[in-house]
Amino acid sequence: MSLLEVANLTKSFPTGRNLLGRRTGWTHAVRDVSFTLDAGECLAVVGESGAGKSTVGRMVLRLVESDSGTVMFDGEDVLVAKPARLREMRRGMQMIFQDPHSSLDPRMMVLDAVVEPLIVHTDMDRQARRRRAEELLDKVGIGARYLGRYPAELSGGQLQRVAIARALTLQPKMIVCDEPVAALDVSVRAQVLNLLRDLQEELGLAYLFVCHDLALIEVIADRVLVMKSGGVVEAGTVEQIYTRPREDYTRELLDAIPVPVPRATRKA
Ligand SMILES: Nc1ncnc2c1ncn2[C@@H]1O[C@H](COP(=O)(O)OP(=O)(O)OP(=O)(O)O)[C@@H](O)[C@H]1O
Ligand SMILES: [Mg+2]
Repeated sequence: MSLLEVANLTKSFPTGRNLLGRRTGWTHAVRDVSFTLDAGECLAVVGESGAGKSTVGRMVLRLVESDSGTVMFDGEDVLVAKPARLREMRRGMQMIFQDPHSSLDPRMMVLDAVVEPLIVHTDMDRQARRRRAEELLDKVGIGARYLGRYPAELSGGQLQRVAIARALTLQPKMIVCDEPVAALDVSVRAQVLNLLRDLQEELGLAYLFVCHDLALIEVIADRVLVMKSGGVVEAGTVEQIYTRPREDYTRELLDAIPVPVPRATRKA
């Protein structure tokens, strides 16, 4: 059994309305998508804009309700879990978004942002929470001196590190990363990618790593799921996708990679 088993996930969104207010159409954002993710593994979900990558990631965490399909996490069906159970299950599965400026509350000090999940989910006292926050900020490489700062005082890269620390507070088994470095300066992308990879190794995390840029995933992904127009085009190991893509669409994505690739150290 894999940590995450996704089968036949499907989602349509209503598109326009006509003058009478009736729905005029539907976007098939995700159609019949299936994949698995093992504990400690990184599966990259790649494809052009609008392919349905983010919708898949959000449906897995049930931030978006799916139309049909199943999502089994750690042997339990996420899509039918009752609210209290879902809250409990969410300790094990976290999300990191593209833009840390919008995912972190600007009025919340770094300390409060990092410990908030502990307040919601545990009965740790204030001191223990602060110690945990210090330890986590240390782990993500920005240090406890940032605990009293506000998001506006931090750079994009530092903020994403805070978002990562927050995602780690409850010791999840899996993190859905939705384009976690796309909004960052090119100069810090490789650093944050390397951090994510190091954390994955140290903590045995599984990542569902949504990314439209194939150049970024080589350092972090084990396997790749290529999506187009809501469906899966092909899936394989990073090595297979890079060297022996089966589909023209994948080849086009590879051809679009600008050289040089970011100077991140390759996955061993
Ligand atoms: N909440 C929504 N309401 C209506 N349509 C949506 C919604 N979310 C996504 N869509 C549509 O579903 C399709 C897939 O969107 P999605 O955001 O999953 O793509 P993506 O692969 O993540 O793209 P990008 O690389 O631009 O982030 C798109 O056509 C999008 O317009
Ligand atoms: Mg997206």
